Amino acid sequence: MIKKIAVIGAGTMGHAIAGCFARFGYPVSVYESFEEVRNTCKEKIKNQYAFLCEEGVMDATGSEAALDRIAIYADLKPAVQDADYVIEAIPERLDLKQGLFDNLIESCPAETVIASNTSSIAFSDLTAKMGIADKARTMVCHWYNPAHLIPLVELSCFGNMPEETYLEVEALYRSIEKRPAKVLKDIPGLLANRIQQGVAREVFSLMEMGAADAKDIDTALKYGPAFRYATTGQLEVADFGGLDIWCIVGDNLLAAMDRSPQASPLLREKVKEGKLGFKSGEGFFNYPEGQKQEILNQFNRRLLKQLQVSKQYD
Ligand SMILES: NC(=O)c1ccc[n+]([C@@H]2O[C@H](COP(=O)([O-])OP(=O)(O)OC[C@H]3O[C@@H](n4cnc5c(N)ncnc54)[C@H](O)[C@@H]3O)[C@@H](O)[C@H]2O)c1
Repeated sequence: MIKKIAVIGAGTMGHAIAGCFARFGYPVSVYESFEEVRNTCKEKIKNQYAFLCEEGVMDATGSEAALDRIAIYADLKPAVQDADYVIEAIPERLDLKQGLFDNLIESCPAETVIASNTSSIAFSDLTAKMGIADKARTMVCHWYNPAHLIPLVELSCFGNMPEETYLEVEALYRSIEKRPAKVLKDIPGLLANRIQQGVAREVFSLMEMGAADAKDIDTALKYGPAFRYATTGQLEVADFGGLDIWCIVGDNLLAAMDRSPQASPLLREKVKEGKLGFKSGEGFFNYPEGQKQEILNQFNRRLLKQLQVSKQYD
């Protein structure tokens, strides 16, 4: 049974992943190589908990107890030597991840499950240098950002991991109120990012052709397809609409839609102009410096509300 967790890398994803496990009672060790990130990690998790306390889904006592369950390490070995489950969230570079896996294999007990939060590196590449026994305890567990609010975690089930180990990991994620999706094929982007890119490609293309302004395109998505998607998956939606209708509309529309195999030229242009979205203050919309924190809080509040409502559909 998985009892003790280690998280490697305490950046955007790692600190939030650690916070989630600790919130639900797991002792968590965090190994981070960069001193400044180590020093701010607990503060960032504390802020995450403060938001949950403000919104009434956590209390101050629970927050303090959860923070006490987190230990930060400057060395790998003491962080992972007694871990049952290790998840890495270091930068998306194959050489870094493979190097880390070598060290993990040396430092963890032989039965520790080793997971990667990679968004785009194939499992076969991640594990290319491993022996069969180590491959069998390695998997991809892909979280979604912001990790403390999005319930999805995609779990790979395409290595040679024994089913009982996979089921243990699935149970671990259910115990922290995540919604695991089991992925059967080693495909880049797994499920959710591929689905999202499909939608995003058409959205950027609609902007590029001037079909509507940014607000109206997002309105069409939020109050149309995405409104259903929050409760009902695409395959259920297709069933409700009738597969015959989806067939006819697909034949009529798909040939007229964007099929580009690269990111949108409009995105490239914005990147060139330094318009990177929220972080630079301008993307498709504007984010004035003095309002950024409140805009972010509103985004998180909407996600939390949706998370709470989604629990009613269990
Ligand atoms: N950011 C996202 O929205 C998102 C979503 C899902 C998955 N991911 C994936 O999660 C992983 C991490 O992404 P991120 O956005 O959190 O990155 P990040 O750059 O914010 O954080 C990475 C952290 O790892 C630390 N680090 C680097 N090398 C290390 C090492 N060898 N040992 C320990 N710590 C090390 C860095 O100092 C940094 O703090 C990537 O694989 C990424 O593709 C990211």
